Amino acid sequence: MTTTYKKRIIELTVNQETYELAVECQETLLDVLRKNLGLAGTKEGCGTGECGACTVLLEGEPILACLKLAVECEKKKIETIEGQSINGNLAPVQEAFLEKGGVQCGFCTPGMVMASTDLLRRNPDPSKEDIMESLGGHLCRCTGYNKIMESVQHAAKLAKDNR
Ligand code: FES
Ligand code: FES
Repeated sequence: MTTTYKKRIIELTVNQETYELAVECQETLLDVLRKNLGLAGTKEGCGTGECGACTVLLEGEPILACLKLAVECEKKKIETIEGQSINGNLAPVQEAFLEKGGVQCGFCTPGMVMASTDLLRRNPDPSKEDIMESLGGHLCRCTGYNKIMESVQHAAKLAKDNR
């Protein structure tokens, strides 16, 4: 027997575009971003809040989209990796990850970039410990993390040089 759930219309602003969407009450923000809006840059790793791959910014704060119900985001602003480029160019954080080899298979990268973006907005000159704390909940099976640390430090330097 197929279970049907009641749908609700919600309004979400994603990367500065506002959408009205019919969502089921149990659907996660991650599912809505990926399936309803086709924004597949936000990755589903574990689906249970353990890997950080699904990190997006909700009202400017990093959250795990796999643990957030879409209906809880009604009328809220969401930023995803797709909204980070500036006039078609990569954002400095994205550039830094490419330049320093913080991207290998790339699966963890959108979540790492979103968490790093949040960190650098709050703290433009983070220490190694600050970066480790910010990215503590993010798993990467490829890089050994050193390249990611270097990428975030490089992103901070790029931003400083541009100030
Ligand atoms: Fe959300 Fe892993 S997919 S924390
Ligand atoms: Fe492959 Fe991080 S680059 S999981």
